[in-house]
Amino acid sequence: MTGCVQQPQGAAWERVSAALREQATGEQPVCAYVYDLGTLLERVEAVRLALPERCELYYAIKANTHPAVLSKMAGYVEGFEVASLGEITKALAAGAPRLVFSGPAKTDAEITGALRAGLHLLNVESLHELRRAALIGAELGVRVPVALRVNRRTGGLPGELSMAGTATQFGIDETLLAEALQLTRALPALLLRGFHLHCTSNNLDAQAHANFVTDSVAWCTRQVARHRITLEVIDVGGGIGVAYTGGAGFDLPRFADGLGAAIQHLPPGVRLIFELGRFLVAEAGWYAAEVIDLKCTHDRFFAVLRGGTHHFRLPAAWRYSHPFAVLPVEEWRYPFARPQLRAGCVDLVGELCTPQDVLARGIWVQRLRVGDIVVFPLAGAYGWEVSHHDFLSHPHPAQLVLDTP
Ligand SMILES: Cc1ncc(COP(=O)(O)O)c(C=O)c1O
Repeated sequence: MTGCVQQPQGAAWERVSAALREQATGEQPVCAYVYDLGTLLERVEAVRLALPERCELYYAIKANTHPAVLSKMAGYVEGFEVASLGEITKALAAGAPRLVFSGPAKTDAEITGALRAGLHLLNVESLHELRRAALIGAELGVRVPVALRVNRRTGGLPGELSMAGTATQFGIDETLLAEALQLTRALPALLLRGFHLHCTSNNLDAQAHANFVTDSVAWCTRQVARHRITLEVIDVGGGIGVAYTGGAGFDLPRFADGLGAAIQHLPPGVRLIFELGRFLVAEAGWYAAEVIDLKCTHDRFFAVLRGGTHHFRLPAAWRYSHPFAVLPVEEWRYPFARPQLRAGCVDLVGELCTPQDVLARGIWVQRLRVGDIVVFPLAGAYGWEVSHHDFLSHPHPAQLVLDTP
């Protein structure tokens, strides 16, 4: 994948760049995440409008658990998808309306904590987990609302990471479904609510995603008939993608059109749950870092940043060059010439002691100077959350939240 320099525009960029310019007047080099809640709301509202009736929108908080993001989101979604007791604690603090709990390694303490928190749905990932959940429910004197997370043999989706439709640690293998349903019936502490079929990450093909939802509904309908069960929900998970390196993004209106068939075939009384992470928050976050040094080694230019992959690991993890904008800063405090690169290609690298600390490679810039700020858009999802913050013990970035009334 290639990267690029962007010249961002629009009201959100005005707000973000103004906040960063203010940071640049401080004593320390700029290093910050900026979250713009106006941008977040625009995206959430667009998704809500696109989803037909009988759909419920949950936010998969693993994408970004900043308290301000969670509190804002809590007012606009049906609930949060969580994957640990830590996430449950954060979700409750933010006023989460409902919780659905996924993850392949839930401990007894986590299941207990989730049930005490009034869990809406436990997405169960194995027969062993099913038995443990029943035991814990019986001990607490509550019925455990379960959705069986099934790893189907077919019906996967394109995307960056496949979690079902192939061998992974996720879900109950489709061949074990009859056994799982039998167990669910036999254990009175369990209450079968539905199926959970999350299967990919960062799928950009809207038609394929709509087809996946339609196929999921058809599959669930077949299981209802075959096993004589009733369902309340079909949870199709998340996985809607963001075009980090340009090109056509996920076509939301097309997806909405394509959902018609799925809704038509939804068994009576059943609701469709979406657990979106990336697509809801990626656009609302920017990661910014000041250029600390500029150098050329072996004929290649490097801009060394106050920051790096320990704050924003996504491009290194997925091996692509993240797009960025240059925010020029005119102030220069040293009594000697300012290092700069004019009309050339540069690698943006971080402050870590490893050559793998790279955010963008070989990108052409018109001008880049020490003291300028580089700003990475689309950093609101799986940015800070997935990074190894304390490697080398540098100070963490500032976390700025812009909330327009
Ligand atoms: C069970 C589950 N639901 C939802 C999501 C959110 O996925 P995305 O951020 O791709 O929408 C994930 C992400 O890994 C997940 O594991």
